[in-house]
Amino acid sequence: MPISIPKGVFDVLPFPLDSSMEWNTSERWAYVESVAIEVARSYGFEEIRIPIFEHTELFIRSVGEQTDIAQKEMFTFLDRGNRSLSLRPEGTASVMRSYVENHLSQRGLPQKYYYLGSMFRYERPQAGRYRQFGQFGLEAIGSPSAYQDAEVIDLMLTIYKKLGLKKLQVMINSVGTPQTRKQYLDALRAFFAPRLTELSQDSQTRFEKNVLRILDSKDTTDKKIIEGAPSILDFLDDASKQHFALLQTLLGNLGIDFVINDKLVRGLDYYTKTVFEITCDDLGAQSTLAGGGRYDNLIQELEGPATPSVGFAMGLERLLQVLHRQNAPIKSLPRTQFLLIALGQEAKCAAFSLLKQLREHHLMVEMEYSDRKIGATLQSADKKNIPYALILGEEELAGRTITLKSLKERSSDSISLDKLINHLKTL
Ligand code: HAM
Repeated sequence: MPISIPKGVFDVLPFPLDSSMEWNTSERWAYVESVAIEVARSYGFEEIRIPIFEHTELFIRSVGEQTDIAQKEMFTFLDRGNRSLSLRPEGTASVMRSYVENHLSQRGLPQKYYYLGSMFRYERPQAGRYRQFGQFGLEAIGSPSAYQDAEVIDLMLTIYKKLGLKKLQVMINSVGTPQTRKQYLDALRAFFAPRLTELSQDSQTRFEKNVLRILDSKDTTDKKIIEGAPSILDFLDDASKQHFALLQTLLGNLGIDFVINDKLVRGLDYYTKTVFEITCDDLGAQSTLAGGGRYDNLIQELEGPATPSVGFAMGLERLLQVLHRQNAPIKSLPRTQFLLIALGQEAKCAAFSLLKQLREHHLMVEMEYSDRKIGATLQSADKKNIPYALILGEEELAGRTITLKSLKERSSDSISLDKLINHLKTL
Protein backbone atom coordinates (compact mmCIF):
# COMPACT_ATOMS: atom_id res chain seq x y z
CA MET A 1 0.00 0.00 0.00
CA PRO A 2 1.34 3.48 -0.79
CA ILE A 3 2.25 5.56 2.26
CA SER A 4 -0.33 8.20 3.19
CA ILE A 5 0.02 11.56 4.91
CA PRO A 6 -0.16 11.55 8.75
CA LYS A 7 -3.27 12.72 10.58
CA GLY A 8 -3.68 16.48 11.12
CA VAL A 9 -1.36 17.65 8.35
CA PHE A 10 -1.91 18.38 4.66
CA ASP A 11 -0.14 19.24 1.44
CA VAL A 12 -0.31 22.67 -0.14
CA LEU A 13 -0.48 22.43 -3.92
CA PRO A 14 -0.92 25.07 -6.66
CA PHE A 15 -4.57 23.98 -6.92
CA PRO A 16 -7.16 22.83 -4.34
CA LEU A 17 -7.23 19.09 -3.71
CA ASP A 18 -11.02 19.09 -3.32
CA SER A 19 -13.84 21.61 -2.96
CA SER A 20 -13.48 21.74 0.84
CA MET A 21 -9.85 22.81 0.43
CA GLU A 22 -10.32 25.71 -1.97
CA TRP A 23 -8.72 28.05 0.57
CA ASN A 24 -5.57 25.95 0.48
CA THR A 25 -3.45 26.70 -2.57
CA SER A 26 0.21 27.64 -2.64
CA GLU A 27 -0.74 30.85 -4.43
CA ARG A 28 -3.09 31.89 -1.61
CA TRP A 29 -0.47 31.05 1.02
CA ALA A 30 2.20 33.05 -0.78
CA TYR A 31 -0.09 36.06 -1.16
CA VAL A 32 -1.15 36.15 2.49
CA GLU A 33 2.43 35.70 3.67
CA SER A 34 3.67 38.48 1.40
CA VAL A 35 1.07 40.95 2.74
CA ALA A 36 1.91 40.07 6.36
CA ILE A 37 5.63 40.52 5.70
CA GLU A 38 5.14 43.80 3.85
CA VAL A 39 3.06 45.31 6.67
CA ALA A 40 5.44 44.08 9.41
CA ARG A 41 8.45 45.52 7.57
CA SER A 42 6.68 48.84 7.12
CA TYR A 43 6.32 48.98 10.93
CA GLY A 44 10.07 48.37 11.35
CA PHE A 45 10.08 44.64 12.09
CA GLU A 46 12.94 42.47 10.78
CA GLU A 47 12.83 38.77 10.00
CA ILE A 48 14.11 36.14 12.42
CA ARG A 49 14.28 32.43 11.47
CA ILE A 50 14.08 30.12 14.41
CA PRO A 51 14.72 26.36 14.56
CA ILE A 52 11.91 23.86 14.02
CA PHE A 53 12.93 22.04 17.21
CA GLU A 54 14.44 23.09 20.50
CA HIS A 55 15.28 21.54 23.86
CA THR A 56 11.96 20.50 25.41
CA GLU A 57 12.82 22.42 28.57
CA LEU A 58 12.70 25.73 26.70
CA PHE A 59 9.01 25.28 25.95
CA ILE A 60 8.16 23.89 29.38
CA ARG A 61 9.80 26.87 31.06
CA SER A 62 8.26 29.41 28.69
CA VAL A 63 4.70 28.35 28.05
CA GLY A 64 4.37 26.83 31.54
CA GLU A 65 4.32 23.26 32.80
CA GLN A 66 0.57 23.13 33.47
CA THR A 67 -0.57 24.46 30.10
CA ASP A 68 -2.29 22.15 27.63
CA ILE A 69 0.66 22.69 25.28
CA ALA A 70 3.20 21.37 27.77
CA GLN A 71 0.94 18.69 29.24
CA LYS A 72 -0.38 17.01 26.13
CA GLU A 73 0.30 18.81 22.87
CA MET A 74 4.02 18.71 22.25
CA PHE A 75 5.73 16.45 19.74
CA THR A 76 8.57 15.40 22.03
CA PHE A 77 11.27 12.88 21.18
CA LEU A 78 14.69 11.73 22.29
CA ASP A 79 17.43 12.25 19.75
CA ARG A 80 20.19 9.68 19.24
CA GLY A 81 22.17 11.35 22.02
CA ASN A 82 19.25 10.86 24.44
CA ARG A 83 18.41 14.57 24.59
CA SER A 84 14.75 15.50 24.89
CA LEU A 85 13.78 17.72 21.97
CA SER A 86 10.39 19.06 20.89
CA LEU A 87 8.99 20.39 17.65
CA ARG A 88 8.16 24.05 18.27
CA PRO A 89 4.54 24.47 19.43
CA GLU A 90 4.89 28.28 19.13
CA GLY A 91 7.53 30.85 18.25
CA THR A 92 7.88 33.25 21.17
CA ALA A 93 10.01 30.91 23.32
CA SER A 94 12.53 30.41 20.51
CA VAL A 95 12.79 34.11 19.70
CA MET A 96 13.49 34.82 23.37
CA ARG A 97 16.00 31.97 23.59
CA SER A 98 17.77 33.46 20.58
CA TYR A 99 17.64 36.95 22.09
CA VAL A 100 19.34 35.73 25.27
CA GLU A 101 21.78 33.29 23.70
CA ASN A 102 22.97 35.66 20.96
CA HIS A 103 23.15 38.68 23.31
CA LEU A 104 20.84 40.55 20.99
CA SER A 105 20.33 43.18 23.69
CA GLN A 106 23.68 44.58 22.53
CA ARG A 107 21.97 45.81 19.37
CA GLY A 108 20.04 48.31 21.52
CA LEU A 109 16.34 48.38 22.28
CA PRO A 110 13.66 48.05 21.11
CA GLN A 111 14.18 45.16 18.73
CA LYS A 112 11.35 44.02 16.56
CA TYR A 113 11.28 40.63 14.88
CA TYR A 114 8.75 38.76 12.77
CA TYR A 115 8.70 35.07 11.88
CA LEU A 116 6.77 32.84 9.59
CA GLY A 117 6.54 29.08 9.66
CA SER A 118 4.99 25.87 10.86
CA MET A 119 4.21 25.13 14.49
CA PHE A 120 3.32 21.69 15.82
CA ARG A 121 0.74 20.70 18.41
CA TYR A 122 -0.64 17.25 19.04
CA GLU A 123 -4.30 18.31 19.08
CA ARG A 124 -7.43 16.49 17.99
CA PRO A 125 -7.61 17.48 14.32
CA GLN A 126 -10.78 19.23 13.15
CA ALA A 127 -11.68 22.17 10.90
CA GLY A 128 -9.29 24.99 11.78
CA ARG A 129 -7.22 22.84 14.12
CA TYR A 130 -4.25 20.92 12.80
CA ARG A 131 -1.15 19.20 14.10
CA GLN A 132 1.10 21.25 11.83
CA PHE A 133 -0.13 24.78 11.25
CA GLY A 134 1.30 28.01 9.88
CA GLN A 135 1.83 31.06 12.02
CA PHE A 136 2.90 34.57 11.23
CA GLY A 137 4.13 36.05 14.49
CA LEU A 138 6.10 38.96 15.77
CA GLU A 139 7.74 40.15 18.95
CA ALA A 140 8.58 43.73 19.97
CA ILE A 141 11.34 43.39 22.55
CA GLY A 142 12.33 46.07 25.00
CA SER A 143 9.47 48.51 25.44
CA PRO A 144 7.32 48.53 28.60
CA SER A 145 4.93 51.04 27.05
CA ALA A 146 1.24 50.56 26.27
CA TYR A 147 2.02 52.41 23.04
CA GLN A 148 3.97 49.32 21.95
CA ASP A 149 0.98 47.09 22.78
CA ALA A 150 -1.29 49.37 20.75
CA GLU A 151 1.16 49.37 17.83
CA VAL A 152 1.30 45.58 17.75
CA ILE A 153 -2.51 45.28 17.80
CA ASP A 154 -2.80 47.95 15.11
CA LEU A 155 -0.21 46.14 12.97
CA MET A 156 -2.13 42.89 13.22
CA LEU A 157 -5.39 44.56 12.21
CA THR A 158 -3.66 46.38 9.36
CA ILE A 159 -2.62 43.02 7.90
CA TYR A 160 -6.21 41.79 8.11
CA LYS A 161 -7.55 45.02 6.64
CA LYS A 162 -5.09 44.90 3.73
CA LEU A 163 -6.29 41.39 3.00
CA GLY A 164 -9.89 42.61 3.00
CA LEU A 165 -11.03 40.67 6.06
CA LYS A 166 -14.32 41.65 7.67
CA LYS A 167 -16.33 40.97 10.81
CA LEU A 168 -13.40 40.86 13.22
CA GLN A 169 -13.69 41.23 16.94
CA VAL A 170 -10.81 42.41 19.12
CA MET A 171 -10.87 41.16 22.72
CA ILE A 172 -8.51 42.59 25.30
CA ASN A 173 -7.78 41.98 28.96
CA SER A 174 -5.07 42.56 31.52
CA VAL A 175 -3.63 39.71 33.58
CA GLY A 176 -1.56 42.07 35.77
CA THR A 177 1.72 40.97 37.29
CA PRO A 178 2.63 37.69 39.03
CA GLN A 179 2.76 39.50 42.38
CA THR A 180 -0.74 40.95 42.21
CA ARG A 181 -2.05 37.84 40.50
CA LYS A 182 -1.48 35.88 43.75
CA GLN A 183 -4.52 37.52 45.33
CA TYR A 184 -6.59 36.80 42.27
CA LEU A 185 -5.54 33.16 42.31
CA ASP A 186 -6.65 32.93 45.96
CA ALA A 187 -10.02 34.39 44.97
CA LEU A 188 -10.30 31.92 42.10
CA ARG A 189 -9.50 28.99 44.40
CA ALA A 190 -12.12 30.20 46.88
CA PHE A 191 -14.64 30.44 44.03
CA PHE A 192 -13.92 27.03 42.46
CA ALA A 193 -13.40 25.05 45.70
CA PRO A 194 -17.10 24.49 46.46
CA ARG A 195 -17.74 23.66 42.77
CA LEU A 196 -14.77 21.37 42.32
CA THR A 197 -16.69 18.15 41.67
CA GLU A 198 -18.75 19.86 38.92
CA LEU A 199 -15.59 20.75 37.00
CA SER A 200 -14.06 18.54 34.31
CA GLN A 201 -11.27 16.17 35.31
CA ASP A 202 -8.70 18.40 33.60
CA SER A 203 -9.89 21.45 35.49
CA GLN A 204 -9.80 19.58 38.78
CA THR A 205 -6.14 18.89 38.13
CA ARG A 206 -5.61 22.52 37.12
CA PHE A 207 -7.21 23.56 40.43
CA GLU A 208 -4.37 21.84 42.23
CA LYS A 209 -1.54 22.81 39.93
CA ASN A 210 -2.37 26.14 38.21
CA VAL A 211 -5.85 27.44 38.93
CA LEU A 212 -5.67 30.24 36.32
CA ARG A 213 -5.61 27.63 33.56
CA ILE A 214 -9.19 26.61 34.46
CA LEU A 215 -10.22 29.80 32.63
CA ASP A 216 -8.84 28.29 29.35
CA SER A 217 -11.06 25.24 29.62
CA LYS A 218 -12.97 24.35 26.47
CA ASP A 219 -15.40 22.13 28.42
CA THR A 220 -18.98 23.49 28.18
CA THR A 221 -19.89 22.89 31.86
CA ASP A 222 -16.60 24.46 32.95
CA LYS A 223 -17.31 27.45 30.74
CA LYS A 224 -20.69 28.07 32.43
CA ILE A 225 -19.12 27.94 35.89
CA ILE A 226 -16.26 30.23 34.76
CA GLU A 227 -18.76 32.95 33.77
CA GLY A 228 -19.47 33.59 37.46
CA ALA A 229 -15.80 33.58 38.52
CA PRO A 230 -14.23 36.74 39.96
CA SER A 231 -12.80 39.28 37.51
CA ILE A 232 -9.04 39.67 37.32
CA LEU A 233 -9.57 43.37 36.61
CA ASP A 234 -10.68 43.87 40.23
CA PHE A 235 -7.28 42.67 41.42
CA LEU A 236 -4.92 44.70 39.23
CA ASP A 237 -2.14 46.80 40.76
CA ASP A 238 -2.10 50.52 39.94
CA ALA A 239 0.61 50.29 37.26
CA SER A 240 -1.28 47.53 35.40
CA LYS A 241 -4.53 49.50 35.71
CA GLN A 242 -2.92 52.61 34.22
CA HIS A 243 -1.28 50.56 31.47
CA PHE A 244 -4.61 48.99 30.57
CA ALA A 245 -6.42 52.35 30.63
CA LEU A 246 -3.79 53.93 28.33
CA LEU A 247 -4.03 50.99 25.93
CA GLN A 248 -7.79 51.47 25.69
CA THR A 249 -7.36 55.21 25.01
CA LEU A 250 -4.76 54.53 22.31
CA LEU A 251 -6.89 51.90 20.59
CA GLY A 252 -9.88 54.24 20.77
CA ASN A 253 -7.79 57.05 19.19
CA LEU A 254 -6.88 54.71 16.33
CA GLY A 255 -10.56 53.94 15.79
CA ILE A 256 -10.11 50.30 16.80
CA ASP A 257 -13.25 48.76 18.29
CA PHE A 258 -12.58 46.29 21.07
CA VAL A 259 -14.36 44.48 23.86
CA ILE A 260 -12.94 43.76 27.28
CA ASN A 261 -13.14 40.09 28.17
CA ASP A 262 -12.07 39.73 31.79
CA LYS A 263 -11.89 35.92 31.51
CA LEU A 264 -9.36 36.03 28.68
CA VAL A 265 -6.08 34.69 30.09
CA ARG A 266 -4.72 32.85 26.98
CA GLY A 267 -3.33 29.34 27.04
CA LEU A 268 0.26 30.28 27.85
CA ASP A 269 1.77 31.14 31.24
CA TYR A 270 4.18 33.88 30.22
CA TYR A 271 1.77 36.80 29.91
CA THR A 272 1.77 39.90 32.10
CA LYS A 273 -0.55 42.92 31.78
CA THR A 274 -2.03 43.07 28.26
CA VAL A 275 -3.50 40.01 26.54
CA PHE A 276 -5.61 40.06 23.38
CA GLU A 277 -7.30 37.82 20.83
CA ILE A 278 -8.93 38.40 17.48
CA THR A 279 -11.95 36.32 16.56
CA CYS A 280 -14.12 36.14 13.47
CA ASP A 281 -17.72 34.90 13.39
CA ASP A 282 -17.22 33.43 9.92
CA LEU A 283 -14.73 30.90 11.27
CA GLY A 284 -16.95 28.41 13.10
CA ALA A 285 -15.79 26.52 16.20
CA GLN A 286 -12.12 27.49 16.03
CA SER A 287 -12.90 31.19 15.85
CA THR A 288 -9.63 32.60 17.15
CA LEU A 289 -7.63 34.07 14.32
CA ALA A 290 -4.77 35.45 16.37
CA GLY A 291 -3.64 36.01 19.91
CA GLY A 292 -0.90 37.69 21.82
CA GLY A 293 0.08 39.86 24.70
CA ARG A 294 2.79 41.32 26.86
CA TYR A 295 5.34 39.13 28.63
CA ASP A 296 7.55 41.34 30.78
CA ASN A 297 9.23 38.52 32.73
CA LEU A 298 9.89 35.79 30.17
CA ILE A 299 13.37 36.90 29.10
CA GLN A 300 14.43 37.08 32.74
CA GLU A 301 12.98 33.63 33.37
CA LEU A 302 15.20 32.40 30.54
CA GLU A 303 18.16 33.95 32.36
CA GLY A 304 18.46 37.04 30.17
CA PRO A 305 18.32 40.68 31.23
CA ALA A 306 14.89 41.90 32.43
CA THR A 307 13.29 43.05 29.18
CA PRO A 308 9.60 43.88 28.79
CA SER A 309 8.16 42.65 25.48
CA VAL A 310 4.92 42.17 23.60
CA GLY A 311 3.89 40.19 20.52
CA PHE A 312 1.27 38.13 18.75
CA ALA A 313 0.88 35.22 16.37
CA MET A 314 -1.81 34.67 13.75
CA GLY A 315 -2.90 31.28 12.48
CA LEU A 316 -2.54 31.13 8.70
CA GLU A 317 -4.94 28.26 7.91
CA ARG A 318 -7.74 29.99 9.78
CA LEU A 319 -6.92 33.27 8.04
CA LEU A 320 -6.99 31.60 4.61
CA GLN A 321 -10.27 29.89 5.44
CA VAL A 322 -12.03 33.14 6.41
CA LEU A 323 -10.61 34.99 3.42
CA HIS A 324 -12.03 32.30 1.17
CA ARG A 325 -15.38 32.26 2.99
CA GLN A 326 -15.64 36.05 2.69
CA ASN A 327 -14.64 35.98 -0.98
CA ALA A 328 -11.77 38.37 -0.37
CA PRO A 329 -9.79 39.03 -3.56
CA ILE A 330 -6.43 37.27 -3.88
CA LYS A 331 -3.68 38.94 -5.86
CA SER A 332 -2.22 36.38 -8.25
CA LEU A 333 1.48 35.83 -8.53
CA PRO A 334 3.12 36.36 -11.94
CA ARG A 335 2.50 33.38 -14.21
CA THR A 336 3.79 32.02 -17.51
CA GLN A 337 2.76 34.36 -20.33
CA PHE A 338 4.26 32.58 -23.33
CA LEU A 339 4.74 29.00 -24.41
CA LEU A 340 7.55 28.63 -26.91
CA ILE A 341 6.98 25.82 -29.42
CA ALA A 342 9.64 24.82 -31.95
CA LEU A 343 9.00 22.56 -34.94
CA GLY A 344 11.99 20.53 -36.07
CA GLN A 345 15.42 19.89 -34.55
CA GLU A 346 17.16 23.00 -35.88
CA ALA A 347 14.35 25.31 -34.75
CA LYS A 348 14.30 23.60 -31.35
CA CYS A 349 17.96 24.30 -30.83
CA ALA A 350 17.53 27.97 -31.80
CA ALA A 351 14.38 28.29 -29.66
CA PHE A 352 16.22 27.02 -26.60
CA SER A 353 18.69 29.91 -26.89
CA LEU A 354 15.83 32.33 -27.51
CA LEU A 355 14.11 31.01 -24.35
CA LYS A 356 17.13 32.01 -22.26
CA GLN A 357 17.25 35.42 -23.93
CA LEU A 358 13.57 36.10 -23.25
CA ARG A 359 13.93 35.06 -19.62
CA GLU A 360 16.89 37.40 -19.22
CA HIS A 361 14.49 40.16 -20.23
CA HIS A 362 12.14 39.06 -17.41
CA LEU A 363 9.54 37.60 -19.75
CA MET A 364 7.73 34.60 -18.24
CA VAL A 365 8.24 31.90 -20.84
CA GLU A 366 8.18 28.11 -20.84
CA MET A 367 9.22 25.86 -23.69
CA GLU A 368 7.52 22.73 -24.95
CA TYR A 369 10.13 19.96 -25.21
CA SER A 370 7.94 17.13 -26.49
CA ASP A 371 7.42 16.42 -30.17
CA ARG A 372 3.67 15.95 -29.86
CA LYS A 373 1.27 17.54 -32.35
CA ILE A 374 1.06 21.32 -32.14
CA GLY A 375 -2.75 21.22 -31.71
CA ALA A 376 -2.45 19.14 -28.52
CA THR A 377 0.27 21.44 -27.16
CA LEU A 378 -1.83 24.55 -27.78
CA GLN A 379 -4.82 22.93 -26.12
CA SER A 380 -2.92 22.09 -22.95
CA ALA A 381 -1.39 25.62 -22.88
CA ASP A 382 -4.89 27.05 -23.05
CA LYS A 383 -5.97 24.76 -20.22
CA LYS A 384 -3.08 26.05 -18.11
CA ASN A 385 -4.26 29.63 -18.87
CA ILE A 386 -1.11 30.56 -20.76
CA PRO A 387 -2.30 33.45 -22.93
CA TYR A 388 0.21 33.28 -25.82
CA ALA A 389 2.17 30.75 -27.86
CA LEU A 390 5.33 31.54 -29.81
CA ILE A 391 5.86 29.19 -32.72
CA LEU A 392 9.21 28.79 -34.41
CA GLY A 393 9.25 26.52 -37.47
CA GLU A 394 11.91 25.96 -40.15
CA GLU A 395 10.27 28.61 -42.33
CA GLU A 396 10.17 31.23 -39.58
CA LEU A 397 13.75 30.43 -38.65
CA ALA A 398 14.91 30.98 -42.24
CA GLY A 399 13.02 34.31 -42.41
CA ARG A 400 14.15 35.37 -38.87
CA THR A 401 10.55 35.68 -37.72
CA ILE A 402 8.33 33.94 -35.18
CA THR A 403 4.57 33.39 -35.05
CA LEU A 404 2.82 34.91 -32.04
CA LYS A 405 -0.52 33.29 -31.34
CA SER A 406 -3.09 34.63 -28.89
CA LEU A 407 -4.81 31.59 -27.44
CA LYS A 408 -7.72 33.63 -26.13
CA GLU A 409 -8.42 35.61 -29.30
CA ARG A 410 -7.28 32.82 -31.61
CA SER A 411 -5.31 35.33 -33.71
CA SER A 412 -1.79 35.05 -35.17
CA ASP A 413 0.91 37.58 -36.05
CA SER A 414 4.29 37.20 -37.64
CA ILE A 415 6.93 39.13 -35.67
CA SER A 416 10.51 39.80 -36.67
CA LEU A 417 12.92 38.14 -34.24
CA ASP A 418 14.83 41.43 -33.93
CA LYS A 419 11.75 43.21 -32.61
CA LEU A 420 10.38 40.31 -30.60
CA ILE A 421 11.47 41.28 -27.08
CA ASN A 422 10.16 44.83 -27.34
CA HIS A 423 6.93 43.59 -28.85
CA LEU A 424 6.32 40.98 -26.16
CA LYS A 425 6.94 43.55 -23.45
CA THR A 426 4.05 45.64 -24.75
CA LEU A 427 1.54 42.80 -24.40
P1 HAM B 1 -1.55 30.97 20.36
O1 HAM B 1 -2.81 31.64 20.77
O2 HAM B 1 -1.24 29.69 21.02
O3 HAM B 1 -0.40 32.04 20.64
O4 HAM B 1 -1.54 30.75 18.80
C1 HAM B 1 -1.77 31.83 17.90
C2 HAM B 1 -2.71 31.43 16.78
O5 HAM B 1 -2.23 30.25 16.14
C3 HAM B 1 -4.12 31.05 17.23
O6 HAM B 1 -4.91 32.19 17.42
C4 HAM B 1 -4.60 30.22 16.04
O7 HAM B 1 -5.05 31.07 15.00
C5 HAM B 1 -3.33 29.51 15.61
N1 HAM B 1 -3.33 28.12 16.09
C6 HAM B 1 -2.98 27.68 17.30
N2 HAM B 1 -3.10 26.34 17.37
C7 HAM B 1 -3.53 25.92 16.16
C8 HAM B 1 -3.85 24.63 15.58
N3 HAM B 1 -3.69 23.50 16.27
N4 HAM B 1 -4.27 24.60 14.29
C9 HAM B 1 -4.40 25.74 13.58
N5 HAM B 1 -4.12 26.96 14.07
C10 HAM B 1 -3.69 27.06 15.34
C11 HAM B 1 0.93 31.79 20.43
O8 HAM B 1 1.37 30.88 19.79
C12 HAM B 1 1.84 32.87 21.03
N6 HAM B 1 3.24 32.51 20.72
C13 HAM B 1 1.49 34.23 20.46
C14 HAM B 1 2.36 35.32 21.01
C15 HAM B 1 3.42 35.88 20.39
N7 HAM B 1 2.24 35.88 22.20
C16 HAM B 1 3.20 36.78 22.33
N8 HAM B 1 3.93 36.77 21.25
